[in-house]
Amino acid sequence: PELDTDATLDQPLAVPRNVPAELIGREVHRRRTFGIISHPDAGKTTLTEKLLLFSGAIQLAGTVKARKSGRHATSDWMEIEKQRGISVASSVMQFEYRDHVVNLLDTPGHQDFSEDTYRVLTAVDSALMVIDAAKGVETQTIKLLNVCRMRSTPIITFMNKMDRETRDPLELLDELESVLDIQCAPVTWPIGMGKSFRGVYHLLRDEILLFAPGDARADQEFEVIKGINNPRLEAMFPREIEQLKMEVELVHGASHPFDLQAFLAGTQTPVFFGSAINNFGVREILNALLDWAPSPRPRDASVRSVEPSEAPFSGFVFKIQANMDPAHRDRIAFLRVCSGRFERGMKIKHLRLNREIKVSNVVTFMAASREQVEEAYAGDIIGLPNHGNMQIGDSFSEGELLQFTGIPYFAPDFFRSVRIRNPLKIKQLHKGLQQLGEEGAVQVFKPVHSGDLILGAVGVLQFEVVASRLLNEYGVDAVFEGTSISSARWVTSEDKRAIADFEKSAAGHNVAYDAAGNMAYLASSSVNLRHTQERWPLLTFHATREHA
Ligand code: G4P
Repeated sequence: PELDTDATLDQPLAVPRNVPAELIGREVHRRRTFGIISHPDAGKTTLTEKLLLFSGAIQLAGTVKARKSGRHATSDWMEIEKQRGISVASSVMQFEYRDHVVNLLDTPGHQDFSEDTYRVLTAVDSALMVIDAAKGVETQTIKLLNVCRMRSTPIITFMNKMDRETRDPLELLDELESVLDIQCAPVTWPIGMGKSFRGVYHLLRDEILLFAPGDARADQEFEVIKGINNPRLEAMFPREIEQLKMEVELVHGASHPFDLQAFLAGTQTPVFFGSAINNFGVREILNALLDWAPSPRPRDASVRSVEPSEAPFSGFVFKIQANMDPAHRDRIAFLRVCSGRFERGMKIKHLRLNREIKVSNVVTFMAASREQVEEAYAGDIIGLPNHGNMQIGDSFSEGELLQFTGIPYFAPDFFRSVRIRNPLKIKQLHKGLQQLGEEGAVQVFKPVHSGDLILGAVGVLQFEVVASRLLNEYGVDAVFEGTSISSARWVTSEDKRAIADFEKSAAGHNVAYDAAGNMAYLASSSVNLRHTQERWPLLTFHATREHA
């Protein structure tokens, strides 16, 4: 039988393997790892499906769509549950296109922003921002873009639904620039919209791609006309072409030309117009991703920066998915490979636990199904089944002490205290919350001076999810009640005495420990927080924390 990844091995780590550097370099070079950010309903699912379709990863339209079964769910949390149910298969999709390996990471799209979404974005090298051209920039887009900005992630923009009545394209660019504070470089420009949508003009190639509705055709079948001054265009739609010429002049004057360096620095986004449902403009997006988006980038691992082409394997866990199958308490830790070559059956070191493990039954994510992974390189995501000893932020290597940084926990904004109806279930409650906490579904705090547990979340729906999972997976009927806590900060200090004094002081009544054993201060108000900070100058109060 295959070894479980939980099993510890007594043998020492294998001697460094001899993996040819050119091979690793080549594999890294052809990889792209990205996520789609969008407000719900902008067309993320549709576009994902088209990307997979064009790459040949799936044959049939509707495959991804069918999995988005939560659309008509009766409540919001049911939708989250359903998304969770389908999400191991769809949370990472790998496909090949033009001799590149593309890893598409799904960002949970629910309005009620969850921490999962933030952390998935720490594992990508670029992002595709989908905007409903009739609506423009929406709230979720803003939040997600801000997360991307923390790591200066390069962003490609797709203005979707041009087959509908949309807002004025120039106005859309304006809004993008002012609301999202990012330079826009239009690469394609729409000719008309809605019923009179004729296609797009490619500003860099001086070509017109003619629109034809329907999703039967792949887009290489869209007709291309060379040159904006081509007499054929005049003959086809004289009025629109006049308008286009005027707009293009305006656009050239008023917007930024595409600048690869600015894009890679995350300060400029190339903008494409199209219609995902009609397959139109999708190929351009794929090409931009391969031609412009970065291959896996170096990663900071506190002691040093790790180059993706280094021969030894390394990576970090950015997401845990648990209890997919209630009959088996299985968990999958999603690991982003940061360097080297991962090979099935190799031994790797789990640095936090200082343990060597042999990973045999690893899963990879080929578009639609789980498959055994034979090898993986930087940028790839592998799934490590385990029984609960892997946590978000854990680093793995072939032995070197590398702790990858930048996988954050965010101080929660919402708090609940937990009570159970049946006191005999207290053990199950603790176990359930411990596991859900490790999975990142919710943050759990144990106050020093009280037996109650405090839950913290970034979005309130997380509480409903946790309540329903406690009931279904652990048989615990828990009641969540409001608290007087308004914010939380993790507390650290070089001065161990100050920490101990703090815990013993009156402020200690608001001190709690999180699931990973970190000290936190649960403030009753912003005034209270400020006062406490002023009174304890030797302590640092953090709004985010990294790994344990
Ligand atoms: P999401 O994942 O971002 O939430 O969006 P999704 O792809 O599910 O798309 C949301 C709705 O927008 C769907 O319609 C989808 O068909 C539609 N849509 C996506 N791209 C385009 C486009 O280019 N043009 C037009 N006109 N519509 C588009 P729905 O009615 O909510 O669902 P369905 O009944 O079509 O499945």
